[in-house]
Amino acid sequence: MTASFSEERSAEIVAGSFADTTDPRLKQVLTSLVSHLHAFVKDVELTETEWQHAIDFLTAVGHKCDDTRQEFVLLSDVLGVSMLVDAINHRAQADSTDSTVLGPFHLVDSPPRELGDDISLDGLGDACVFAGRVRSADGTPLPGAQVDVWQANGAGFYDVQQPDLQPERNLRGLFTTDTEGRFWLRTVVPRYYPIPDDGPVGTLLNATGRHPNRPAHIHVIAGAEGHFPVTTHVFVEGSPYLDSDAVFGVKESLIRPVTDVDDVKLATHYGTENPFRLIEFDIVLDTRQ
Ligand code: BEZ
Ligand code: FE
Repeated sequence: MTASFSEERSAEIVAGSFADTTDPRLKQVLTSLVSHLHAFVKDVELTETEWQHAIDFLTAVGHKCDDTRQEFVLLSDVLGVSMLVDAINHRAQADSTDSTVLGPFHLVDSPPRELGDDISLDGLGDACVFAGRVRSADGTPLPGAQVDVWQANGAGFYDVQQPDLQPERNLRGLFTTDTEGRFWLRTVVPRYYPIPDDGPVGTLLNATGRHPNRPAHIHVIAGAEGHFPVTTHVFVEGSPYLDSDAVFGVKESLIRPVTDVDDVKLATHYGTENPFRLIEFDIVLDTRQ
């Protein structure tokens, strides 16, 4: 028979109910969850009104989710859980480019593009070149590496947020590095933007005096054969909100300047007018052992 419930032994009693769980990982996770959850409820001495408020909040988070909106992931993002899970799971790739959150605006089927293509199909924003080199941790360049890029436009919106205003697949592209591991493409300088804040997560940010903004960034997923892929961003140096990203995604190592370049030969190579703006971002991938 289950022991009779008491405030003192609550976690122990509930954890005991998992005794017959055959999956050892599930048992470990549930036991730890109950232990921390009960400790939290005791710590704050949760009132019944607050408990009901929490239930209503989580219900609203669920109702906000659909095929294109994932409010639970957004909640995880603003509580720093997404970045913590990312950090724990990428300790092994210590020599590679730092990772950061994926975010909700990635499309699994980015359009394959040629090196030098312009991914800004609406031309909204200040033109710039985004270029770099993909290398293995020992410095060897990685030809044939895949570089998947996506970003918001000069007004701070992704194509999927404005299907009636922006061309389909605006500011997205899947590039393949050349024989020296290099990639380059034409785009616009990204702008800071707010994460979707018209749902319960926005209400939470508002109630805690937090803003919803993310600093200007370009998303990148880079991968190459025999290497761990990296999901990351390059952040624009000097952007507002670099020190208060709503989802805690900023790492110093990922901040790059937008430089003004006056070099006719380089401009010709990148297929752009001279002078031009340039964001350079080299990417290092760890080998799979
Ligand atoms: C993004 O950078 O696209 C993003 C990341 C987390 C939450 C919302 C947006
Ligand atoms: Fe983003």
